[in-house]
Amino acid sequence: MISPIVVSAADAGKFAKHMGFFVYEDGAFLGGAIAAAEKRRLWEASKESGFKAVIGECTEIPEMAQGGRRIVLVGLGKKKEVCAETLRRAGAALYRHAKGRWEKLLISAPIASAAPIFEGFMLASYEFTEYKKPEAARLSSAGFLAADAREMAGLRKILDRSSAVCQAVAFARDLVNRGASDKTPEKMGEIASTLAGPRVKVDVFGREKAAELGMGSFLSVARGSDDEPAFVRLVYKPAGRVKKRIGLVGKGITFDSGGLSLKPPASMETMKMDMAGAAAVLAVFRALPALGPRLEVHGFCPFTYNLPGPRATKPGDVVKAMNGKTIEILNTDAEGRLVLADALCLAAQEKLDAVIDMATLTGAAVTALGSKVSAVMAGDKILLERLLRASRESGEMMWELPLVKEYRELLKSDVADLRNIGRVRGEAGTIIGGLFLKEFSGDAPWAHLDIAGPAWSDKASSYFSQGGTGAPVRTILRYLESL
Ligand code: BES
Ligand code: MN
Ligand code: ZN
Repeated sequence: MISPIVVSAADAGKFAKHMGFFVYEDGAFLGGAIAAAEKRRLWEASKESGFKAVIGECTEIPEMAQGGRRIVLVGLGKKKEVCAETLRRAGAALYRHAKGRWEKLLISAPIASAAPIFEGFMLASYEFTEYKKPEAARLSSAGFLAADAREMAGLRKILDRSSAVCQAVAFARDLVNRGASDKTPEKMGEIASTLAGPRVKVDVFGREKAAELGMGSFLSVARGSDDEPAFVRLVYKPAGRVKKRIGLVGKGITFDSGGLSLKPPASMETMKMDMAGAAAVLAVFRALPALGPRLEVHGFCPFTYNLPGPRATKPGDVVKAMNGKTIEILNTDAEGRLVLADALCLAAQEKLDAVIDMATLTGAAVTALGSKVSAVMAGDKILLERLLRASRESGEMMWELPLVKEYRELLKSDVADLRNIGRVRGEAGTIIGGLFLKEFSGDAPWAHLDIAGPAWSDKASSYFSQGGTGAPVRTILRYLESL
């Protein structure tokens, strides 16, 4: 990934021969460190190539030197429709245009637009290279032009934050993209341990300790596999006073075969991504020391495979979660809620001010909201509003689904306190998942994010590459910073 640097006006000439500007459909520039007459000339010249300045459209102005530099214009569309997401997309488009063409690129835009432009640019430059060589690229560095010394300092701050956020997103994407056999639960524990530092403590435990704690629900999923499960606990503590204590819980199924309720082959193809919730939690902890919010943040990541080994849970089995509730497992493919149940119980013991779980929980969420929108369910209005605001600001779309009380009876079991799937097939699957989790969330304000759609992208576009997206890392970091 390319992290842009800040370049002073004095150094700009030496830094790069190519320079990017952003322009609206009506020819107005988004700031841009050149004279108005020069902008008009560039706009006129761009017309020759049929440039319309639609969002993300790029054009290089031929034979047009500005202080000996070559100019590329990036379209922003209609001025009244522009938002942070437009700027992210434009930043991504500029990266994709420059990538194979130039070695260095200077970006000129107002400081107020810098953060989303950086974000789009950096995230678009992400590539998963664990199993193959990176694509050929010319571009090796990018700079953002600072008008004066004050802007220099301001831009550096913005860049540092954006870099920390995007590095975290890339970290989550790498984990999701890795093959399931290369990320055993124990390996995930080791990776989590590398996040430990002066402000972050990490603790990992396996079957034995989980059994001592009474995590019968989590362990019922782990039974189907020879690999030891790993429960990862993380705590971030800031330097000064703590304003609030927040819990983050992530589903960490390192591969979801469905267990004995086996999935068909096509549905398994992407199931290495079933630990995207836990990957996002780990990624948040990777960024926290750099962002330094005055919060205590607790992480809970239950990692295990969901496999149909000889000792696997059989449909009809009853298990007991940490809070004493018994669960009749009728479908071993509804395993995410089983590992999260015990993780939520452990979080509840901490008496936190809010707990948010994130999980690729239901295919029904993809049916309802598609691949771009996560479902949010929350028992608490304030928490819900804060999350939705953070989601709007980050461009990671989320939509509320109701925790319909009347549906709770669909989870009633004949032999246990709860069943792990609803009574009516194909009805409100995502809400049923939320209602199940609620039974384990304790008294603290709680929200559940079903990220089954947005955690994965079938193809590269805008600032996404094919595969893991890093959702909802940016939203969670924003939410935490807003407290
Ligand atoms: N990991 C899946 C959900 C999923 C599906 C995520 C597609 C991403 C894309 C989850 O464990 C699952 O299998 N859920 C079942 C629940 C059902 C058995 C109640 C599902 O969605 O079919
Ligand atoms: Mn499943
Ligand atoms: Zn799953």
